[in-house]
Amino acid sequence: MPKNSRFSALLNKRHSLIPGAAHTYSKGDDQFPRTAPPAIVRGKGAYVWGTDGKKYLDWCMGLRSVLLGHAYEPVNRAVAKQMSLGTNFGRPAMIEFEFANELVKMLPNTDMVKFAKNGSTVTTAATKLARAFTGRKYIVVCSSQPFFSYDDWFVGTTQSPAGIPEEVRKLTLTFAYNDIASLERVFAEHQNEIACVILEVMAGDEPKDNFLQKVEALTHREGALLIIDEMITGFRYGFPALHDRYGLKPDLTTYGKGIANGYSLAILAGRKEVMELGGLEHKKERVFLVSTTHGAETTALAAGLAVLKEMKIKKIQPALVRYGTKLKKELEKLVIKHSLAEFVQLKGAVVNMSMVFKDRDGAVSPLLRTLFLQEVNKRGILFQGYFALSYSHGQRELQTTLKIFDKVLGEYSKIFASTDREAYLLGPIIRPVFRKYN
Ligand SMILES: Cc1ncc(COP(=O)(O)O)c(C=O)c1O
Repeated sequence: MPKNSRFSALLNKRHSLIPGAAHTYSKGDDQFPRTAPPAIVRGKGAYVWGTDGKKYLDWCMGLRSVLLGHAYEPVNRAVAKQMSLGTNFGRPAMIEFEFANELVKMLPNTDMVKFAKNGSTVTTAATKLARAFTGRKYIVVCSSQPFFSYDDWFVGTTQSPAGIPEEVRKLTLTFAYNDIASLERVFAEHQNEIACVILEVMAGDEPKDNFLQKVEALTHREGALLIIDEMITGFRYGFPALHDRYGLKPDLTTYGKGIANGYSLAILAGRKEVMELGGLEHKKERVFLVSTTHGAETTALAAGLAVLKEMKIKKIQPALVRYGTKLKKELEKLVIKHSLAEFVQLKGAVVNMSMVFKDRDGAVSPLLRTLFLQEVNKRGILFQGYFALSYSHGQRELQTTLKIFDKVLGEYSKIFASTDREAYLLGPIIRPVFRKYN
């Protein structure tokens, strides 16, 4: 950051103002190379402007929450219109019912929906409903996938369980993706005690050997509920969802990042028999489901309705797939050109590809990853190792990306071949979000 930046004084004390100096750990200083801007001032389309005074082509897109583009005009207009009508009232706003009605018509396996501000709120609500519905206590989570909630039932399974009592941690069990035997074992060890299984349709690896269908059959056979987390996949990998492409019938589904172009909105969706436990029209024991002051804030719902309209009219999801396919093909050509195909690989669906950096022994290398990201960020692309495609990424952005990645791959081959790679580091090596000590 330039010394005379008007932001310097505030940025210098940012860690004393906010623990972690960010509001998700994945945005933190330890998650980016030193060449990334410490903070963002504004964004428009596929670009953001950093506090370092530089304009960046953005491949992070608000942790994948901005699907159409920063400050996207049709969404801006819808939000501004709603803002002038008021944001929160003492009784439900009509827009809650309008949006819910659209979603129930459109989302697969959905009879009812409930809104919230964060993905964690709705995944946690789903597990609570499943426990109430089944009268069982254990939650089973797919540990091959990175994140489901910041709440105790999930964070207790990570390398950062501080503040979560052992008794609570024991109530969440884990299984591995594409390993049905690992789920069978969990069910065998906890017969009639498992309330639900929660997983994403995919996060990186594709499902193999009918894995998802097997998970569903086993879960239901054992009397547990299936929760599919579409936080990242919903709207992006499939519109409106991905799970129905595999013929899945989850009891509950959660959405978030794809649905409101960065506005704070998450959705718990599901079948009536389960969802209605949170309602007023049954004689069973009441479930205190999601009940938050801001959950149905009208501007976020207006953003959601506007996104839905844009997605349908402009057929955005298939356009993202076409773009990602081209980007992947061209990037792979560059990797081959620089003789790095064995060590720099693209993984995952084309709408959300990750770059993996391997050393000569095939092991993933945090040092090499940091060095690559450092070189990309240095050249004006905000890049955290994945490509969160948006509808605002056009041909110009594709060409810029390819030009810069070509240069970076050239530089990286030199670094890769060096016997003193650390000498190229401009800052600390990027660390895992979940770790016991700083
Ligand atoms: C798959 C998945 N589920 C749930 C969440 C939690 O969402 P939020 O950060 O909105 O609480 C995330 C966030 O990264 C996620 O990727």
